[in-house]
Amino acid sequence: MGRLVIEPEIFSGEVPPNKSVLQLLLELRIPVLHSCRRGLCGQDLIRVKSGWEHLNAIEDPECGTLELLRVNDQPMRMACCTKVVGSGEVVVEIV
Ligand code: FES
Repeated sequence: MGRLVIEPEIFSGEVPPNKSVLQLLLELRIPVLHSCRRGLCGQDLIRVKSGWEHLNAIEDPECGTLELLRVNDQPMRMACCTKVVGSGEVVVEIV
Protein backbone atom coordinates (compact mmCIF):
# COMPACT_ATOMS: atom_id res chain seq x y z
CA MET A 1 0.00 0.00 0.00
CA GLY A 2 1.28 3.46 -0.86
CA ARG A 3 1.42 6.56 1.29
CA LEU A 4 -0.28 9.81 0.49
CA VAL A 5 0.19 13.26 1.94
CA ILE A 6 -2.43 15.88 1.09
CA GLU A 7 -1.37 19.42 1.83
CA PRO A 8 -1.98 21.76 3.50
CA GLU A 9 -2.18 19.54 6.61
CA ILE A 10 -5.20 17.57 5.38
CA PHE A 11 -4.09 13.94 5.38
CA SER A 12 -1.04 11.75 5.78
CA GLY A 13 -1.27 7.98 5.72
CA GLU A 14 -1.58 4.80 3.72
CA VAL A 15 -4.12 4.53 0.92
CA PRO A 16 -5.34 1.47 -0.98
CA PRO A 17 -4.51 1.47 -4.72
CA ASN A 18 -8.15 1.59 -5.80
CA LYS A 19 -9.01 4.78 -3.90
CA SER A 20 -8.76 8.11 -5.70
CA VAL A 21 -7.56 11.28 -4.02
CA LEU A 22 -11.08 12.68 -4.46
CA GLN A 23 -12.66 9.68 -2.74
CA LEU A 24 -10.32 10.16 0.19
CA LEU A 25 -11.03 13.90 0.41
CA LEU A 26 -14.77 13.25 0.43
CA GLU A 27 -14.41 10.58 3.13
CA LEU A 28 -12.48 13.11 5.20
CA ARG A 29 -15.32 15.59 4.59
CA ILE A 30 -12.95 18.07 3.00
CA PRO A 31 -14.94 20.48 0.83
CA VAL A 32 -13.58 20.16 -2.70
CA LEU A 33 -15.24 21.14 -5.95
CA HIS A 34 -16.15 18.13 -8.06
CA SER A 35 -18.86 17.00 -10.39
CA CYS A 36 -18.23 14.28 -12.96
CA ARG A 37 -15.78 12.09 -11.00
CA ARG A 38 -14.22 10.90 -14.25
CA GLY A 39 -11.80 13.57 -15.40
CA LEU A 40 -14.14 15.65 -17.52
CA CYS A 41 -15.29 18.70 -15.57
CA GLY A 42 -11.86 19.93 -14.46
CA GLN A 43 -13.03 21.09 -11.04
CA ASP A 44 -10.78 19.03 -8.76
CA LEU A 45 -7.33 20.01 -9.87
CA ILE A 46 -4.41 19.04 -7.62
CA ARG A 47 -0.68 19.70 -7.85
CA VAL A 48 1.66 16.74 -7.41
CA LYS A 49 4.58 18.00 -5.32
CA SER A 50 6.50 14.71 -5.27
CA GLY A 51 6.10 11.04 -6.05
CA TRP A 52 4.67 11.43 -9.56
CA GLU A 53 6.19 8.06 -10.45
CA HIS A 54 3.97 6.37 -7.86
CA LEU A 55 0.71 7.50 -9.49
CA ASN A 56 -1.50 5.69 -11.96
CA ALA A 57 -1.10 6.73 -15.59
CA ILE A 58 -3.08 9.63 -17.06
CA GLU A 59 -5.73 8.40 -19.48
CA ASP A 60 -8.58 10.00 -21.36
CA PRO A 61 -10.68 11.96 -20.56
CA GLU A 62 -8.36 13.34 -17.83
CA CYS A 63 -5.58 13.85 -20.39
CA GLY A 64 -7.82 16.01 -22.60
CA THR A 65 -9.09 18.03 -19.65
CA LEU A 66 -5.54 18.80 -18.49
CA GLU A 67 -4.78 19.99 -22.03
CA LEU A 68 -7.90 22.18 -22.12
CA LEU A 69 -6.89 23.73 -18.79
CA ARG A 70 -3.38 24.29 -20.23
CA VAL A 71 -1.71 22.53 -17.31
CA ASN A 72 -0.60 19.38 -19.14
CA ASP A 73 3.02 20.58 -18.97
CA GLN A 74 2.80 20.97 -15.19
CA PRO A 75 2.61 18.36 -12.41
CA MET A 76 -1.16 18.59 -12.20
CA ARG A 77 -3.84 15.90 -12.03
CA MET A 78 -7.56 15.66 -11.46
CA ALA A 79 -8.15 14.29 -7.94
CA CYS A 80 -10.93 11.99 -9.14
CA CYS A 81 -8.54 10.19 -11.51
CA THR A 82 -5.46 10.10 -9.29
CA LYS A 83 -4.52 6.99 -7.35
CA VAL A 84 -1.34 5.92 -5.60
CA VAL A 85 0.01 2.70 -7.03
CA GLY A 86 2.81 0.62 -5.56
CA SER A 87 4.38 1.34 -2.21
CA GLY A 88 5.88 4.80 -2.67
CA GLU A 89 4.93 8.12 -1.12
CA VAL A 90 3.10 10.86 -3.01
CA VAL A 91 2.62 14.44 -1.84
CA VAL A 92 -0.18 16.46 -3.42
CA GLU A 93 -1.64 19.88 -2.82
CA ILE A 94 -5.17 21.09 -3.46
CA VAL A 95 -5.04 24.14 -5.75
S1 FES B 1 -14.73 15.52 -10.66
FE1 FES B 1 -14.75 16.18 -12.70
S2 FES B 1 -12.68 16.09 -13.33
FE2 FES B 1 -12.69 15.25 -11.33
